[in-house]
Amino acid sequence: MDALSKVIIVDYGSQFTQLIARRVREAGVYSEIHPCIVTAEEVKAMNPSAVILSGGPSSVGDVDAPTLDMGLLELGVPVLGICYGMQLLAQNMGGKLASSETREYGPADFNMTADCPLFADLNREDSLRVWMSHGDQVKAVPPCFEVIGSTETLEVAAMACVEKNIYALQYHPEVHHSEGGDIMINNFLFKIAGIKPDWTMSGFIDSVIKDCQETVGPEGNVVCGLSGGIDSTVVAVLLNKAIGHRLHCIFVDNGLMRQNEVEEVSSYLREHFDLNLTVVDARDRFLSKLVGVEDPETKRKIIGYEFIEVFDEEATRIDNVKFLAQGTLYPDVIESISHKGPSAVIKSHHNVGGLPEDMELKLIEPLRELFKDEVRKVAIELGMPDSVVWRQPFPGPGLAIRIIGEITDERLTILRKADKIVQNELTASGWYRKVWQGFAVLLPLKTVGVMGDDRTYENVIALRIVDSVDAMTADWARLPSELLEKMSSRIINEVNGINRVVYDISSKPPSTIEWE
Ligand code: XMP
Repeated sequence: MDALSKVIIVDYGSQFTQLIARRVREAGVYSEIHPCIVTAEEVKAMNPSAVILSGGPSSVGDVDAPTLDMGLLELGVPVLGICYGMQLLAQNMGGKLASSETREYGPADFNMTADCPLFADLNREDSLRVWMSHGDQVKAVPPCFEVIGSTETLEVAAMACVEKNIYALQYHPEVHHSEGGDIMINNFLFKIAGIKPDWTMSGFIDSVIKDCQETVGPEGNVVCGLSGGIDSTVVAVLLNKAIGHRLHCIFVDNGLMRQNEVEEVSSYLREHFDLNLTVVDARDRFLSKLVGVEDPETKRKIIGYEFIEVFDEEATRIDNVKFLAQGTLYPDVIESISHKGPSAVIKSHHNVGGLPEDMELKLIEPLRELFKDEVRKVAIELGMPDSVVWRQPFPGPGLAIRIIGEITDERLTILRKADKIVQNELTASGWYRKVWQGFAVLLPLKTVGVMGDDRTYENVIALRIVDSVDAMTADWARLPSELLEKMSSRIINEVNGINRVVYDISSKPPSTIEWE
């Protein structure tokens, strides 16, 4: 990856830092976020083409406020300070700040008051509606800086020192509703820093393959747990391209997957990608441990523990295994590193759980630099079909947490049939890709119905179909009533054991997406 242009984003804790990285990557330039305790020496070693100082919640005058390593300004590459980043520049380079009691939060009209390369391709006469979020403000720019923009309330809303190649904006150009923000970021990258946009998915794939070959060497073996989801599938296909059958994929069939899922996923991967794949039939093992278990947390614990056991047993069968491949994504990596630095708790990313210590496996995480939509682009580049690229998330404990109460074969059969109908109808109507997740939940609660001339006394299916961007919050999807009606009537007519369908209209929070 070293040959690629790289922008280093120093994170002072803004909720928008990830968005800066996104905008830079969307412009075709590779970017990395580092916590603000990173030193200028460390950044220098990364050989960046430009540095961006993010915003942050602190006030520069606070006792423990994050500080600016002045060495960052001596790297010989352009620097862009955003919000708190601008205030740090002003404070440290001899300008004056004024703190304010209230935070300015929301839209403001920004006027470009001087010519500046940051504003290339923008019409200086236009005022731009931009997004502000700040408490302190710059009152006087440091020597050698000039004011390049202002708003009604801020005399210094942007400043620049063209000689030193340092630019600063008080508002957030990375936020979508900041007009002209993407143009300014592109100007910074291409016109000011002279970067070539060389971050492409095919380039990424080539470099992962090369890196993996170097890391694993000519003889080592790698194990990878496959779930059928996009992240682990992309990891497997990438590493398979790098080391062929020395990649050993393990797919644990826990008996809690959807209808035909294990067969479909495994045959597809073997046929299209010639993956070295072992499907472990552990259905009885999991289901026998779950007999009589009703409590959701106990179910989850049993399944998690059993998974590790099964995976370990399979992994230890393979000789000369030195590495474990995982589908960790960039948001997991940066969420785990708080802007306060390494003292903060680091999340463990053991998607497949712990492995026996005596195996001493090193991790290979080829997707740890990517966002989810970039993983999808890699999948498309690798020739994967829509069914893999756009597959909705499916929880590790599978259908166990979608059957309320005890899991039995009969209940699994009922839920699989109902769930298949939900999947089919969402796909046929074009809604599958529009919603975050859509599935059926079995409520083993009997209610009275009537079919033909007969009274029935059967179970309830709840439909859980939600919109979300990250699963942290979610809302029930406003599906057309005709579609809901079709799902309901198909489920009641086609699935024995169901005589009632309800639609879950709870948001998260206070509810969750899954029922257990
Ligand atoms: P909740 O129910 O917490 O779910 O709102 C948020 C998202 O996480 C998924 N989920 C899981 N994924 N293992 C997983 O891999 C799990 O144990 C698990 N529990 C919930 C859920 O499907 C939703 O997308």
